[in-house]
Amino acid sequence: MARLVLVGLPGAGKSTLAPLLADQWGVACLDTDDVVREMTGRGVADWIRDAGEDAFREVEADALERALVDDVVVSTGGGIVTSERSRRSLESALVLWLDAPLDLLARRIDGGDRPLVADDPRVRLAELNRERRPLYARVATWTLSSEPRPENLVTRARALVEDPVSIHSVRLAERSYDVVVARGARHRLAGLLARLAPRARRVAFITTPTLREQPWWDLEVGLDPVVIDVPDGESAKSLATLEMVCERLARAGLSRDDVVVSVGGGAVCDLAGFAAAVYLRGVRVVHVATTLLAQVDAAIGGKTAVDIPAGKNLVGAFHQPLGVLCDLEVLETLPEREWRSGWGEVVKCVLLTGARDASPGDVRDLVNLSVALKARIVSADEREGGERALLNYGHTLAHAIEALALERDVDELRHGEAVAVGLAFATRLSTRLGRVDASRISEVDALLSRFGLSSRLGEFSTERVLEFMARDKKAHHDLTFVLDGPRGVEVVPEVDVDVVRDTLETMKGES
Ligand SMILES: NC(=O)c1ccc[n+]([C@@H]2O[C@H](COP(=O)([O-])OP(=O)(O)OC[C@H]3O[C@@H](n4cnc5c(N)ncnc54)[C@H](O)[C@@H]3O)[C@@H](O)[C@H]2O)c1
Repeated sequence: MARLVLVGLPGAGKSTLAPLLADQWGVACLDTDDVVREMTGRGVADWIRDAGEDAFREVEADALERALVDDVVVSTGGGIVTSERSRRSLESALVLWLDAPLDLLARRIDGGDRPLVADDPRVRLAELNRERRPLYARVATWTLSSEPRPENLVTRARALVEDPVSIHSVRLAERSYDVVVARGARHRLAGLLARLAPRARRVAFITTPTLREQPWWDLEVGLDPVVIDVPDGESAKSLATLEMVCERLARAGLSRDDVVVSVGGGAVCDLAGFAAAVYLRGVRVVHVATTLLAQVDAAIGGKTAVDIPAGKNLVGAFHQPLGVLCDLEVLETLPEREWRSGWGEVVKCVLLTGARDASPGDVRDLVNLSVALKARIVSADEREGGERALLNYGHTLAHAIEALALERDVDELRHGEAVAVGLAFATRLSTRLGRVDASRISEVDALLSRFGLSSRLGEFSTERVLEFMARDKKAHHDLTFVLDGPRGVEVVPEVDVDVVRDTLETMKGES
């Protein structure tokens, strides 16, 4: 822990939290107000009354510089962020913005000697809140909503600050961005927006009512957000929902400087990303990915789309986000089936990277492995002209059976479950073509089963599967597959349809 600075309005609990945290970490604790008194012999209230606020902000900036030694927790005055000098100093520290409801703040500051909120604390606090929120957001590494019990606050602040953070870069010249993987990554949203979209005046969250009821829904952006609810799951990805979202964005007055934030799984990412790609011919988007599948795949790489009756993802655009936040904490509420679906894509990445001893207990490592792989491949091949096609490993069959399953029952097959079957099939096809040893089949099946995934191909008509596979938009020539082989996984075009048919039939016959 290097330097942690707590910022927030008066009464947010900074001076209570700072010594508790410093105590737990065994580091120094300083309060800029105390440093001012020590340096000048005068307290904050006297400074403001006698010399005015501007003069005080200058000494306060001196005090902050002095306080920012190594290994320290610093509690600051509520207005420190109004000084440009202090904001510059804060760039060398980790900054935790303690946010709190105005009622709680007003109760806490009652009776204190605080000249800036003396007259009518509630009204004054509301004014300060409006003025300073964008400034807190600008300096914040994390935002944490304060609460009455300090012990809870300490636990949550520690979890945030102590959690390892992995930052993966997607490198695409001026469209480069970071994918942050950490518990509590969502608390970085306000800082990210303030840094990367400083001119934004409005932020539109696109999400679902189900997700807004989750215990982790405490997103703070430092600006007044517009919240647009869309239907849950795949039904969000329709042209009708897209129109509704664009209409709401327009009515909210979202401009080219403003930002769309998707909070959800792959369906919300795809829809919100596409809305951001086309609204006003393109506004910026940040993805807060809440399913495993979205974290390891859908939120990264800029592919956005909606479905039309002729097929899934047929109308869309490439639109890279401004950033992606993969919060491991929000996965705690993910239903089991969605975990399984995510694992399908993760196992694909495990097979592509050769990390075959992976197990589902290693969530953090596996998210990082998958994100790193996708970030590297997208950086090398944004538009799927080459290497990016490898990410379709298992997908030729998966897309076909997903489409066929959808004709029968919306819920029959989740994307990752279909990918798992597709990986099992691709392995069988590789052995049939003599590209890999037959022992690979049991290896891949065992890996899938370790992640709760089935390698069984359900009851699908072989001819219809073949028909869908030939139609797959990723097939450049009839029946192109991504297959393992002596040189590793690669794109294999023009695979003999009879061999494919035979492999499907044999797989269907497996118990
Ligand atoms: N753009 C791409 O590159 C890309 C890649 C892969 C998949 N996709 C798309 O992603 C979509 C599938 O995404 P998905 O698997 O994330 O499904 P999803 O977005 O439909 O979400 C699945 C369910 O999980 C719920 N949920 C989400 N986060 C939760 C949380 N933290 N706690 C509790 N419930 C939560 C949702 O409400 C929903 O009911 C498909 O439409 C697919 O086409 C896109």
